[in-house]
Order: sequence, then C-alpha cells, then structure tokens
Amino acid sequence: MHLIVGVLLFGLCLPAAWAKAADPLQAAVQRGAHLFATDTFGGHGMTCQSCHSGGGKIAGQVAGGGKIPSLANAAAIFPRYSPRAGKVITLEDQIRGCIAGGLGGKPPAYGSQALTDLASYLTFLSNGKPIDMGGKPG
Ligand code: HEC
Repeated sequence: MHLIVGVLLFGLCLPAAWAKAADPLQAAVQRGAHLFATDTFGGHGMTCQSCHSGGGKIAGQVAGGGKIPSLANAAAIFPRYSPRAGKVITLEDQIRGCIAGGLGGKPPAYGSQALTDLASYLTFLSNGKPIDMGGKPG
C-alpha cells in the first residue's frame, strides 16, 4: 500500500519538477543573470553589475559624470540608431559594445551561448513592456 501511494505521489510530482528544471528559456535567463552579476569577460575586473546596479534596473553615473541608463526596458527599445556607431544597432551589438568598452573585455561571439544568455536576461527585464523602437531608456 505504501509503495502504491509512494509511486502515485512520485508520478504526480515529477512532471512539475521536471518542467521547472528543464525549462530551457528560464535556464538561459538565469545563466544570463549570473553572467551579468559575475563575469568580467577577461577585462579589468568589472562586471555588468559594477555599472548597471540592481541587476540593471537602476540608472546611475560613471565616474566622469556620464549617465548609465536603466536597462529595465532596454530590450524593448532596440534596435535603434547609435550616433556613436553611425548605424542602427541591435541589443546584442550594444551588449558586445559594453563588454569591449565598459568591461575592457572580449565580447562573446554572435550566436554564442553567453551572448544569447545575456540577451535573454535583458529581454526578461523588459518582458511585458510595449516595443518602442528607438525609445528612451527607463
Ligand atoms: C563601465 C560601465 C559599464 C559597464 C561595466 C557596462 N555598461 Fe552597459 N552601459 C554603460 C553606459 C555608460 C551606457 C550608456 C551609453 C552607451 O550606450 O554606451 C550603457 C548602455 C547599455 C545598454 C543600453 C541601454 C539603453 O537603453 O540605452 C545595454 C543594453 C547595456 N549597457 C548592457 C550592458 C551589459 C549586458 C553589460 C555587461 C556585459 C554592461 N552593459 C556593462 C556603462 C557600462
């Protein structure tokens, strides 16, 4: 009897546990959040979080006084025109630019898991916000 109850309970619980552990999108977002907070990408010791605090949700300032935008809607306002690049850039272009410039690191290649994970995390922050291409950070 105990065995049957045990097997039944196991059968009932397993699908839910599986769905959670094996959700590839959720896993990408979590890996991205981890990279955001901890990875220096071989640079001079900073992480994304060193400038973009609160997991990217809080705006700030760099030492020289330049503005650091909130990333709370970043995924919703790309692609957009970058005066510095002189062309329209994607979210991935911007992330790579911050890794090369902000972190002084080696940007992960287009199509790499690290870049997809970071983009997944930032898109998760913007989830549910209306797309506003070229809009203002906020
Ligand atoms: C040294 C500080 C610094 C670090 C470290 C840094 N950033 Fe940035 N980031 C900035 C500044 C300043 C801007 C705004 C100017 C610009 O677009 O370059 C910005 C802009 C952005 C934007 C565009 C936001 C918007 O809506 O305008 C994204 C996305 C972004 N950063 C992601 C990242 C990610 C991901 C990392 C880590 C891999 C990172 N940044 C590391 C300083 C930094």
